[in-house]
Amino acid sequence: MLRNRRRFALLPVALVVLGAFAGCTDETIVFRDRALFEDPLPAALSFLGYTSTEDKLVVCGNCHIGTQAQWVESEHADAWNGLQDSGHAQEFCEACHTVNELGNVATEPAGHTATGEERYYDVQCESCHGEGLTHVTDPSKETVPLAAMGLGDIAGGAGIACAQCHTGDHHPFAQEWASSGHSQIVGFAANREGCENCHTGEGALDMFGVNTNYTEKADLDAPDQHLSITCAVCHDPHGSEHSGQLRFPIDVPSEEVNLCIQCHQKRGRPDPTTFRGPHSPEGPTLLGTAGWWPPDFTGPIVSTHGSETENPRLCAGCHVNSYEITDEVSGEFLFNATGHRFEATPCVDGQGLPIDGPCENDAKSYASCTECHSESAALLLVDQAEASVAPLIAELGSLLALVDSAEFDPDDDVYTVAEGSRFNLELAETNGSIVHNPFLIRALLNASIAEVRDRYGL
Ligand code: HEC
Ligand code: HEC
Ligand code: HEC
Ligand code: HEC
Ligand code: HEC
Ligand code: HEC
Ligand code: HEC
Ligand code: HEC
Ligand code: HEC
Repeated sequence: MLRNRRRFALLPVALVVLGAFAGCTDETIVFRDRALFEDPLPAALSFLGYTSTEDKLVVCGNCHIGTQAQWVESEHADAWNGLQDSGHAQEFCEACHTVNELGNVATEPAGHTATGEERYYDVQCESCHGEGLTHVTDPSKETVPLAAMGLGDIAGGAGIACAQCHTGDHHPFAQEWASSGHSQIVGFAANREGCENCHTGEGALDMFGVNTNYTEKADLDAPDQHLSITCAVCHDPHGSEHSGQLRFPIDVPSEEVNLCIQCHQKRGRPDPTTFRGPHSPEGPTLLGTAGWWPPDFTGPIVSTHGSETENPRLCAGCHVNSYEITDEVSGEFLFNATGHRFEATPCVDGQGLPIDGPCENDAKSYASCTECHSESAALLLVDQAEASVAPLIAELGSLLALVDSAEFDPDDDVYTVAEGSRFNLELAETNGSIVHNPFLIRALLNASIAEVRDRYGL
């Protein structure tokens, strides 16, 4: 069948650079006086796919050349070959490895599912942005096909965007994420200046310097509308120089650079202007800078797991690991844990499937430690670390109970030994602290005990 080739001579071979695109990718928009695409078959529902399948030049990429260059290096641009090279490609596999109604607003078979054409191979722009014909024939503000940042009601079966492909027992990223803290919004933190950068998706994007537009953005001005920490808050949807297509690296031990620690570091050290205790102290704890330091205390005391050589992936080294869960008896595949519950040691049921906690240490899975420890060794190390800290917690707790309550006055503008020691006690009791850095926690508790005895003559 002969189809028309569309030409675009909006501005004959002119170069238009739009300031609005300077944001993330230094986007340059170019109009070219040449054929961009053949008219799509009616069944494709206006999805355009590739201008050139061989060169992986997406129709959109003729104008959005910056995004095209970024995307072509991403795994999404290799999804079709990845499938074929697996050796067990079947027809039902193709939907998640091509451009069609998955991942965008289309609801009827479109693109590859409707036509099977090669131009729809791979996860292209339209997979997330939706059909492009309307915008490409009239590229204006009114026609821009925005992509969604939200993930819809995953538990209710109405997941959208990334959740339509990164789903199912083999890739349950969406399901695991939905049961993690990152899918939750703490209401009073979401609407407060100074809290929203870590507690909402839109606030985090702001903090990360991403000021682009997406489907939900216009609605987020309403106080009850927020984005949680969804996939594309951590991942750059177009590709990135960092592993896992992340917006920031996970292997740099720095509060300013590390993806996780940019958020997990609100109050690891005491803030003399408030009587409040630790708040997401995980980053500073791992890096050995957390806690109240009495005058003679020498730090930082970096943990084994905070070292780039012993645990290069740092937080993600324990909290974001994938592993397969098989039936103990039959050995049959049950579930791929993707690490997107973000739990280092999730509670598990009899089959080894992650469930909501809390639970005793021996009812948890240590599968995500096995790159370095056997599961039983990891459990033993955790028990030992906790046992070494427990008596210090008990001792400091009973000493602080003897201290005059005036020493804890939040309004006296004095940060006392008692208040500092209480901070260290709360740090030791924060879930995860002991595994994050038993050396620092023991040192802080010992130093606090000595200081409290000395200062208050106990
Ligand atoms: C013929 C050139 C051209 C093609 C092809 C093209 N775009 Fe655009 N696109 C533009 C221009 C020009 C704008 C700026 C519109 C405006 O702000 O007035 C734009 C804006 C956008 C925006 C919004 C940016 C913002 O600041 O709000 C998105 C998203 C977008 N395009 C996605 C796509 C996708 C996806 C495709 C492929 C289906 C595509 N574009 C194909 C020229 C093009
Ligand atoms: C149309 C289905 C589809 C949609 C929609 C989709 N993905 Fe993917 N994604 C895939 C497939 C298939 C792969 C594997 C490609 C390969 O490795 O060959 C993949 C790979 C990835 C990877 C792996 C990168 C790596 O280095 O291993 C990341 C990260 C990712 N996707 C994130 C996202 C995010 C974030 C979204 C939503 C903004 C999204 N994806 C939307 C199908 C999809
Ligand atoms: C529900 C959507 C979906 C279906 C159906 C699907 N995949 Fe995938 N596939 C994905 C996603 C998402 C990824 C990337 C996630 C990851 O890295 O774990 C992926 C990754 C892969 C990869 C790794 C690619 C690489 O380059 O390393 C292979 C191979 C693969 N899939 C093969 C298959 C085969 C074979 C089938 C059919 C039996 C299939 N897929 C069906 C969504 C799907
Ligand atoms: C995996 C999903 C996904 C794919 C594939 C994808 N995008 Fe996007 N795109 C998004 C999301 C989500 C956003 C908003 C967040 C951001 O900018 O990082 C976005 C933002 C944009 C913007 C910025 C809008 C603005 O306000 O400046 C443009 C332009 C754009 N995409 C074009 C493209 C083009 C062109 C391609 C293909 C070369 C593409 N996208 C591929 C999901 C995707
Ligand atoms: C809090 C940040 C965060 C969020 C939110 C997040 N991820 Fe990830 N993701 C990571 C990290 C960290 C890795 C590990 C990267 C590495 O080891 O290099 C990862 C890895 C991946 C991979 C690659 C796995 C592989 O086989 O290499 C895929 C695919 C992925 N995520 C998809 C998703 C999807 C889909 C969502 C939303 C449902 C999501 N992620 C939400 C942080 C996040
Ligand atoms: C944008 C900020 C942000 C980033 C980036 C981020 N987190 Fe979080 N994280 C949070 C917030 C906020 C919560 C608390 C959510 C709640 O409980 O309502 C949280 C909760 C958690 C929890 C508690 C688990 C749970 O389900 O309650 C773990 C573990 C965690 N994050 C690990 C990580 C790791 C590992 C990374 C890096 C891969 C990371 N986070 C990146 C903000 C962030
Ligand atoms: C620098 C980032 C950051 C800022 C700013 C921040 N938080 Fe948090 N907050 C976190 C992280 C990360 C967690 C989850 C880890 C944890 O609980 O240790 C958390 C946990 C919480 C929790 C416990 C959530 C739960 O489900 O248990 C509450 C409540 C909270 N924050 C409220 C606030 C309020 C109110 C503000 C503003 C005054 C604020 N946060 C500012 C990062 C931050
Ligand atoms: C040695 C492995 C390891 C490393 C590295 C690690 N964690 Fe943990 N983390 C744990 C364990 C184990 C727990 C306790 C989980 C439990 O209760 O089962 C934990 C607990 C947590 C919690 C509290 C979870 C909850 O549900 O209350 C958060 C938040 C957390 N870690 C975030 C981080 C961040 C952020 C980093 C990087 C700065 C990090 N962790 C590094 C192993 C690790
Ligand atoms: C990338 C490697 C790596 C991973 C992953 C890892 N560890 Fe470790 N861990 C080490 C090394 C190295 C040591 C120090 C030598 C030793 O005791 O075996 C250590 C020591 C420990 C200690 C003793 C205290 C300390 O910090 O030296 C505990 C407790 C521990 N690990 C728990 C865990 C748990 C729980 C997990 C999984 C959630 C885990 N580790 C994952 C490398 C790792």
